[in-house]
Amino acid sequence: MKKYFNENFKHFLHGGDYNPEQWIDTKEVWDEDMRLMKLSHCNEMSVGIFSWSILEPKENEYDFSFMDEILDKIYEAGGRVLLATPSGARPRWMAEKYPEVLRVKSNGQRNEFGRRHNHCLTSPYYRKKVYEMNSILAKRYGKHPAVIGWHISNEYGGDCFCPLCREAFTKWLEKKYEGDIDKLNFQWWTTFWSHRFDNFSQVAPPLPHGDSYASLELDWKRFVSDQTQSFIANEIAGVREYSDLPTTINMMPYQYINYTKIANEIDAVSWDSYPSWHKPEHLSLAPEIAFWHDFFRSMKQKPFLLMESTPSNTNWQEFNKLKRPGMHKLSSIQAVAHGSDSVQYFQWRKSRGSNEKFHGAVVDHVGHENTRVFKDVTELGICLEKINEVLGTMPSVKVALIYDVDNDNALKVAQGFQLKDKKYMQTCYTWYNQLWKRGIDVDIINAEADLTPYTLVIAPMLYSTTEKTVANIEKYVKEGGTFIGTYALAMVNENDLCYLGGFPANDLKKVFGVWAEEIDTLYPGECNYVRCKNNEYKVVDYCERINLAPSAQTVGKYQDDFYANEPAVVKNAYGKGTAYYVGARGTGELEDFVVGSVLKSLKIEGNIKKLPDGVTAHSREDENAKYIFVENYNGDKKIIDIGEKMLNLETGETESGEVVIPSFGLKIYKKAK
Ligand code: GLA
Ligand code: ZN
Repeated sequence: MKKYFNENFKHFLHGGDYNPEQWIDTKEVWDEDMRLMKLSHCNEMSVGIFSWSILEPKENEYDFSFMDEILDKIYEAGGRVLLATPSGARPRWMAEKYPEVLRVKSNGQRNEFGRRHNHCLTSPYYRKKVYEMNSILAKRYGKHPAVIGWHISNEYGGDCFCPLCREAFTKWLEKKYEGDIDKLNFQWWTTFWSHRFDNFSQVAPPLPHGDSYASLELDWKRFVSDQTQSFIANEIAGVREYSDLPTTINMMPYQYINYTKIANEIDAVSWDSYPSWHKPEHLSLAPEIAFWHDFFRSMKQKPFLLMESTPSNTNWQEFNKLKRPGMHKLSSIQAVAHGSDSVQYFQWRKSRGSNEKFHGAVVDHVGHENTRVFKDVTELGICLEKINEVLGTMPSVKVALIYDVDNDNALKVAQGFQLKDKKYMQTCYTWYNQLWKRGIDVDIINAEADLTPYTLVIAPMLYSTTEKTVANIEKYVKEGGTFIGTYALAMVNENDLCYLGGFPANDLKKVFGVWAEEIDTLYPGECNYVRCKNNEYKVVDYCERINLAPSAQTVGKYQDDFYANEPAVVKNAYGKGTAYYVGARGTGELEDFVVGSVLKSLKIEGNIKKLPDGVTAHSREDENAKYIFVENYNGDKKIIDIGEKMLNLETGETESGEVVIPSFGLKIYKKAK
């Protein structure tokens, strides 16, 4: 069954952020935009993201004339609109009259008006005003034929330390700890350094000039996430007064808020992706971006939207390199290969002044279509039209990797291991890469997700876990699942309180057949080796000393240091399943060996069998067909064997056996079922 963003517009969305309000005095530009939209095979504009000061120039005095005109024009030109709610930036009059809308920094200082995303998440006035504005927009445009969905605000993020937010934090804690301050004292272990609280109102947020420790930090981050979520819920309630069109928020990678939970408020996930291609580490960047595409798709188990990407370069990275020929199409289709039903840009047209005038856009300052970038965009638009039948399909996934934001937050603040950077993200990428390079489709899930759909689950460095997750993993393996865990598994609960009785927590010792006694953190440049069968694999950063249960089988042993010959990689049969414990951090080779042998035992194969370095193959399918995307991130062509006959969706020709994938090139195949 295909799942569409909007049942009434079954096309890949191709377009992006459009700011016609910047050209209100030169409306001939609007007409050019419409001509160029058609010419570039674009069909979507995200409008109104930062328009509040035009829509409500004075308090309660509205002017929708620009919006009325531009929505009609876009529709007449055959385009559709994701209409934004404007809460990402507000008019100056509002900040002057109601300073509570502005954020307060952790040092207690209130921000001046300026920048964007500079709003308090709690302010009752701001919430009320946003609700009103959204319902007015929904009433006026909810039935406009151009509008197919709602772009709620822009890139939510950040926190506020104002008195209102601090009071809301107190209430949030009271609720979480059921009104019992001693429950908080226990979970936060506040007898340490005499930090006990007598009541909830004594608890302050983590402050540079006040208290700061892991449990406090973690609850503050969860509070901020929940506050963001309720802010979004309020925005959507405003829209829902008059419109039932689908909603989305544009998310970002590397955030500490819990997007998976927040995604419950919206109909579709979208995200903004700005990779810095063509650095020396270009080839390892491709799987990293793939990881995030999978993360955002897995969140709702539904196609997502690539809401923002640049058609050429950015202007805010330290070095803003252009995409090499081929790279625009390749990186855009990469998103599609992983489940995106759109390729959208920041931005349609370069602004004339201010911060983002040199950020890549479909239309440059020159104003016409005779640019390399415009041609790239057009070529992509044509490609998306040719592969329209892929829309709404999903990959069929057997392998999941756990990347858990709570665990990420916990590792960031944990006092121990490598203090500054435990490299959780990097280790997730290393494990993910073993699947990516084999052309295996993967879901990226959080620790509490349902594991039953998967044959194999990999959980790198899952240090912080709830009791529920511990039980979930135990049940999964017992009932037949295969699970790979690593060093530092299940050491603390969600409040950074250690599990007692040996790591990993509770029944996981039985599941993995190990008791992990201590972790050796190596200095940079140091290493050890793990011998598995006839090969030695380099290990760095962490070497855990582990004790085995009689049921467990040693797969690899340390080679050096005082723990030479002790087990490093362990396999254990538990219930109907198998658990692997990898006690040390490899540099890719050890992970390759473990993943390779586990996949072999489970008979899981990639979409294409043999892939050279820097080439991958991902897929989407429905009941009738499977679509395979072969991507080559190398700067030279690669020959690969695709085996059986498949239809090249772009050329309409059949191909089989050895085919050439050009440099920074790709092929999109269809295999009937
Ligand atoms: C973000 C924002 C956009 C724009 C781009 C530039 O994603 O949402 O408004 O600033 O960055 O890359
Ligand atoms: Zn606030």
